[in-house]
Amino acid sequence: MRLDRYLAEAGAGTRSEVKKKIAAAEVCVNGETVRDPGMKVDETADLVTLGGRPVRYAAFEYYMLNKPAGVISASRLTGDLRDKDQVCVTDLITDRIRSDLFPAGRLDKDTEGLLLITNDGDLAHRLLSPKKHVDKTYYAELDGMLDEASRNRLEAGVDIGDEKPTLPCRIRVLSGGAACEITIREGRFHQIKRMFETAGLKVTYLKRLSMGPLTLDPKLKPGEYRPLTEQELKLLKQ
Ligand code: URA
Repeated sequence: MRLDRYLAEAGAGTRSEVKKKIAAAEVCVNGETVRDPGMKVDETADLVTLGGRPVRYAAFEYYMLNKPAGVISASRLTGDLRDKDQVCVTDLITDRIRSDLFPAGRLDKDTEGLLLITNDGDLAHRLLSPKKHVDKTYYAELDGMLDEASRNRLEAGVDIGDEKPTLPCRIRVLSGGAACEITIREGRFHQIKRMFETAGLKVTYLKRLSMGPLTLDPKLKPGEYRPLTEQELKLLKQ
């Protein structure tokens, strides 16, 4: 891989910024100062330093984030949102190596819970593809009581104003109907909130608990994250 690409992917700056650093003799490969941004480096073997400090490299990164409320599911903020001092989910991954991380899917700004943050586009595509019907389980609190008839209706699939009704889902009623766990196999915009609206109920708190084989680590407090384990990654890639 080219040295300038290695540095840019490792978060050392944009391609043109890292070229300037190379020209300014700030970059060494295996102890030798390099001035050619096109020099080929072996990311598995060569030691690259910038200003004397090793530059960490990873082809792919995978993090489990417990998204807190108030944070936007985007890889970066543009225009208006940046001006309003908003925070996006990738800003929370402070220990990351790569600069091209993005959230695999979106949660509403006020929704908490499991979000996979990665730069693996193929994996994200497989998880999010509508055709794959990956199960997503949420914990939802409601402003009223979910009765048996509404539960059955929601489970069978409801018209939420889209082209097609929602696919069948599973609901586990909690707290006598004031809360529930709901598993859906789609990922439509505001889907859970819109589904409960058809039963005259407002979702007052929403948290994603799982997505396919990935379950939110109960040790992660809102805003905390950790790399996926080998086992989690293996399950996701199956
Ligand atoms: N359904 C919603 O309504 N909001 C989310 O954030 C996720 C699913």
